[in-house]
Amino acid sequence: MKTLIACITLGACLAGCSATAPSATGYQPVMAQEGKDVIWVPTPDSLLLKMLEAAHVTDKDLVYDLGAGDGKIAIEAARRYGARAVGIEFDPQMAEHARQNAKNAGVSDKVTIITGDIFAEDFSKATVVTLYLLPSLNLKLYPVLVNMKPGTRIVSNTFTIGSWVPDKTFYGYSGTVGHFWIVPASIQGFLQLDGIPGLDQVTLSVVQKSQEFHADFTPQGKPFQRIEGRLNGTQITFSYADIQGVMQTFKGEVIGDALSGTLDADPSVRITAKR
Ligand SMILES: C[S@@+](CC[C@H](N)C(=O)[O-])C[C@H]1O[C@@H](n2cnc3c(N)ncnc32)[C@H](O)[C@@H]1O
Repeated sequence: MKTLIACITLGACLAGCSATAPSATGYQPVMAQEGKDVIWVPTPDSLLLKMLEAAHVTDKDLVYDLGAGDGKIAIEAARRYGARAVGIEFDPQMAEHARQNAKNAGVSDKVTIITGDIFAEDFSKATVVTLYLLPSLNLKLYPVLVNMKPGTRIVSNTFTIGSWVPDKTFYGYSGTVGHFWIVPASIQGFLQLDGIPGLDQVTLSVVQKSQEFHADFTPQGKPFQRIEGRLNGTQITFSYADIQGVMQTFKGEVIGDALSGTLDADPSVRITAKR
């Protein structure tokens, strides 16, 4: 636990954060106070703004902050962007303090603070998830996070999520760092591609690792080629060599079990795929 405390306090607190004022109830949290699975240290303001920016939060979003502390992330998402926001906080006094802070900020109509455990509460409706936990907790949440609705944005103060490579890493003041991911659609397995110019039906056998994949691209009756591609939420891109050996880039969208898209070089081409 000492290592973890050092991890967080050295990572962010010394980088310039400040305690919040007591709420109407007279409760005042203390920097680095114990929490269920991780101590309380608030995200510094400069990084908080970058986190919301990186996640492109808008008034259409439902932002969940897992381990909400004094509610500052949820409050800022509502105040600055008009988003609806939910904070999940285990400590009942801290949760009440966060509710008071939301009220004082004039956003209690948009901000809900749930007193609960992030490992028990359902946050599957979130369009944006914010984290300031620990590497071990992020790793524990990984199977849930990576299986959220494709396109869900996740942003974390300081810590990555296991070996899931971030789509973007950004910095606040004084060496603070954040990471951003978009949950990719799943295309793992076999797909039949139709409409590739000059090639009959193509089989794509895909091995996906988070937002990246490689695949064997096998046109009927022809040798296969190994290709690599990327998913940005539901947007998919990959390149292959056509029958003249010219590289072509496919760009499309994953919709459920199907995909549909076109070629960069000729947007009139329509390519579809099914599992
Ligand atoms: C490092 S603080 C981050 C606070 C806030 N998200 C922020 O960035 O300013 C982590 C918070 O998670 C809370 N917490 C710890 N374990 C939790 C759990 N299992 N469920 C819900 N909250 C938890 C702690 O009480 C603490 O307030």
